[in-house]
Amino acid sequence: MEQRALGHTGLVVPVVGLGTWRTFDVSGEPAERSARAVVDAALASGVNFFDSSPMYGEAERVLGLALADRRARAIVATKVWSSSPHQGRRQAEHALAFFGDRIDLYQVHNLLAWRPQLDLLDRLKASGHVRAIGATHFQASAFGELRRVMESGRIGAIQVPYNPTERDVEREILPAAADLGLGVVVMRPFAEGLLGRRRPSAAALAPLAPFGVTTWEQALLKWILSDPRCHVAIPATSQPAHVVENAAAGAPPWFGPGERRIVERLATPG
Ligand SMILES: NC(=O)c1ccc[n+]([C@@H]2O[C@H](COP(=O)([O-])OP(=O)(O)OC[C@H]3O[C@@H](n4cnc5c(N)ncnc54)[C@H](OP(=O)(O)O)[C@@H]3O)[C@@H](O)[C@H]2O)c1
Repeated sequence: MEQRALGHTGLVVPVVGLGTWRTFDVSGEPAERSARAVVDAALASGVNFFDSSPMYGEAERVLGLALADRRARAIVATKVWSSSPHQGRRQAEHALAFFGDRIDLYQVHNLLAWRPQLDLLDRLKASGHVRAIGATHFQASAFGELRRVMESGRIGAIQVPYNPTERDVEREILPAAADLGLGVVVMRPFAEGLLGRRRPSAAALAPLAPFGVTTWEQALLKWILSDPRCHVAIPATSQPAHVVENAAAGAPPWFGPGERRIVERLATPG
């Protein structure tokens, strides 16, 4: 698995991580055991970057439980998600309890109340509980504000959607992130799974075989990660076998413009 510096944050991350929205929002012993099996497969495959949020229901708790005594092997990214500073502090107390008193990348989710929430994250960083600070948004209509936060000098990384059907970040956000030396975490690599419905035939994927690509999801991940401005993509999955498959896309050779165009054509037929 290739490792990349997450901008100037000081974190070095595997290019393929794991998201936890929906898939880790579970409770009860059987479901929590399944989530642990996904984490087992991830750690065994070099996927040790995990992204969560209090917005994802039980996901932070379930991820913390699944990591348990393996917390030190993981890079945990989570978020504060509230317009209330008081609620933000409560969320941080919970997150620190779930993740051994340390968050590696703490992000402001959807830029909610970003000024006071960044004050909180600054304090947590100063006290040694947080290693790096970031901000996320999933909507192109918020990218103007995201750009202002990026330029404020207060964050080290952003989390944004990027896949062949959601390319708004190419216009301003990725160039600005590269100029500012910010880390880039890519959410929604499969467009929440929608791109799985456009699965091409094995014959259509054959030209990508020399790049180690045997499946559609690997083609999509390589399409993202072949852009060096992107540091880690965080597909979510409930299937240990899918974690292994996704992890295998995290190594060179990377696509050139021709291979990227093949994937774009397959993702947006007609
Ligand atoms: N900050 C934000 O605003 C925000 C918003 C959205 C997401 N995110 C983050 O980004 C993460 C990823 O985005 P996402 O969860 O929306 O969707 P995604 O990763 O684009 O797609 C997830 C879907 O892909 C399927 N999948 C994964 N690997 C597969 C494989 N190898 N083969 C076939 N299907 C596969 C999963 O199904 P299976 O379970 O069957 O594998 C799941 O249905 C989230 O979990 C979250 O951490 C952040």
